[in-house]
Amino acid sequence: MTHEGTTALITGANKGIGFEIARSLGLAGVTVLAGARDRSRGEEAAARLGAAFVQIDVTSEESVAAAAEWIEKEHGRLDILVNNAGIAQGGPTPSRTPLETTRRVYDTNVFGVIAVTNAMMPLLRRSPAGRIVNVSSEVGSMEMASDPESPIYALNGVSYQSSKTALNMITLCYAKEFAGTSIKINACSPGYCATDLNGHTGHRSAEQGAAIAVRLALVDESGPTGAFLDDGGALPW
Ligand SMILES: NC(=O)c1ccc[n+]([C@@H]2O[C@H](COP(=O)([O-])OP(=O)(O)OC[C@H]3O[C@@H](n4cnc5c(N)ncnc54)[C@H](OP(=O)(O)O)[C@@H]3O)[C@@H](O)[C@H]2O)c1
Repeated sequence: MTHEGTTALITGANKGIGFEIARSLGLAGVTVLAGARDRSRGEEAAARLGAAFVQIDVTSEESVAAAAEWIEKEHGRLDILVNNAGIAQGGPTPSRTPLETTRRVYDTNVFGVIAVTNAMMPLLRRSPAGRIVNVSSEVGSMEMASDPESPIYALNGVSYQSSKTALNMITLCYAKEFAGTSIKINACSPGYCATDLNGHTGHRSAEQGAAIAVRLALVDESGPTGAFLDDGGALPW
């Protein structure tokens, strides 16, 4: 299936999983807008991708508004939004994690997603088949984190893990708002991928991690909305 004529914005596309999502969407025929907060890193990545660079710092209202304005001027609408930009910071234990750290993580992983989604929604409404993919993580699953048999049980990062739990609920809230429309909103878990986020300790490649986001970005009208998925299917919330 070709996706010529569709346009996608990927935040944090200059490296890691976001870069691979952008690369795969480009290969599928999508016009890729590679979002990055840093102009030189973003332009360099966009050149490698054969994509257009869009300056977007998800924590800056002005930057997000300017990106939406530019996309409207250049493309008139948006078909796919991948909220990929994210940071992972934390402390030794929840009670020893500075509040400032959690605020910083939420600014990007939670409020950043809401800000970008709301700014892009008027452009997505103009698409015949709008798709939003939120790059979440299985570490945000309440069910897995509370199951002693789950590998996630051992993790206890109050900032990052709870930011992804919030992102899952945000996904559900938007999916409920847009149920019955042509816009689908889903969350995905890339798995543990070797990227700068974790000092390249992950056992999967960024390309493998990107695959589920790409799949959800390209689902047709029979695809899910309000779901939380990885390569293996639905994940417990
Ligand atoms: N790696 C994993 O194992 C894993 C597992 C589950 C979920 N995830 C999620 O996957 C997503 C991508 O992570 P990654 O592993 O690819 O990490 P990464 O290599 O560190 O890439 C993160 C990207 O987000 C960008 N970013 C950070 N803050 C931003 C901001 N305020 N505005 C715009 N862009 C911003 C970074 O830009 P700069 O280059 O400017 O910093 C970079 O492009 C994240 O949401 C992460 O939580 C990753």
